[in-house]
Parts: sequence; C-alpha cells; structure tokens
Amino acid sequence: MNPVFDVIYNRRSIRSYKSDQITPEQLDNILSAGLWAPTARNEQEIKFVAVQDGNILEELQKDFLSSIGGESRVFHYNAPAFILLFGPKDFEYTEIDAGIAVQNMALAAESIGLNTVIIGILRKMMHGPLGDKWIKRFNIPDDHKFVIGLAVGYKAADTPKKDRRDNRIYKL
Ligand SMILES: Cc1cc2nc3c(=O)[nH]c(=O)nc-3n(C[C@H](O)[C@H](O)[C@H](O)COP(=O)(O)O)c2cc1C
Repeated sequence: MNPVFDVIYNRRSIRSYKSDQITPEQLDNILSAGLWAPTARNEQEIKFVAVQDGNILEELQKDFLSSIGGESRVFHYNAPAFILLFGPKDFEYTEIDAGIAVQNMALAAESIGLNTVIIGILRKMMHGPLGDKWIKRFNIPDDHKFVIGLAVGYKAADTPKKDRRDNRIYKL
C-alpha cells in the first residue's frame, strides 16, 4: 500500500499517552502540515496555538472541568502536546477549514511515528467566558472562535480499531 493510505488506515485515536515530550522539529512538522492545508477562498485564517507547557495544560484542564460539572475526565488524555485551532467567527468555512487542517496534522503526526486524538470536547468551555480569557491569553484576535484541538504524543496503550460502516457510499 502507498504511505498515504497506510497512515489513513492505521491511524487510531489514542487516549493514553506516555509523558515523553515531542521534539520542536516534530511539532514544527505537524504545524506545517496544518499551515499547508487547503482553505476556502485561500483565506488562510486558521490560527494554531501549540501548548507543551504542563502548567498551562493543567490550567486548561481546570477550566475544562468547571465547564462539564462534576465529571472526572482529562480532556487531552495527558498527551504532552496540545494544539488548539481558531478561526474567524463570521466566516462560513471556518469549521471546515479547521477540520481539514486538524486532519492534515493528525495524519502528518502518524506518518512520523506520533499518535493523536482530535478533541472537540473543549468547545463548551472555549465558547464561554473562560474561553474569551484564553483567546486573550493566546493573543488570538477576539473575532475568532476555538474550533477543534489535537492532542499529540506517544501512545501508552492502543485503541482498538473501529470498523467503518461502508453502507454510506452511493454510486450512480
Ligand atoms: C470533530 C471530532 C471531535 C472529536 N472529539 C473527541 C473528543 O473530544 N474526545 C475524544 O476522546 N475523541 C474525540 N474524537 C475522536 C473520535 O471519537 C474518533 O475519531 C472516533 O471514535 C473513531 O475512532 P478512530 O479515530 O480511532 O478511528 C473526535 C473526532 C472528531 C472528528
């Protein structure tokens, strides 16, 4: 199989990570895959915030917990790196552009021996007043919203492969 299909079929969402940090070069390669994603009208407005500082991840986790009321869950599964994607609130393709960018990064990470999971569960917190605070802190323009995140690291445990329902294709 060619290497592109290899990573598409073999990538799994990983929910348990080693504490080993990814290197600056690995991070830059992943971010570059995000930058090189296509964007609607070539707007290139998606912004990427890469967090490897454990204290900041802990602060995000604290705010996340306060937004989900009582549940105990670590939003990034203790992955040592977390990338947040933001885009303009009033652009109709923001969510699609960020979705394409995050998948580009997930496949790029897989191709260099890293593991990921795409994280949407942060949206509730990031779309409320606590999120406004983070947007300021990250220096993201205040007309932007958080769309999606990506946890990145080395897997500590496998996730079972989930089959795909193939009755969703309509050929004429
Ligand atoms: C838009 C989007 C949001 C997701 N958000 C989360 C999340 O917040 N937490 C999580 O554990 N997995 C999340 N996932 C991962 C999916 O649960 C996962 O892709 C799906 O179960 C299929 O498993 P696989 O990626 O291993 O094939 C998200 C995936 C997508 C595409």
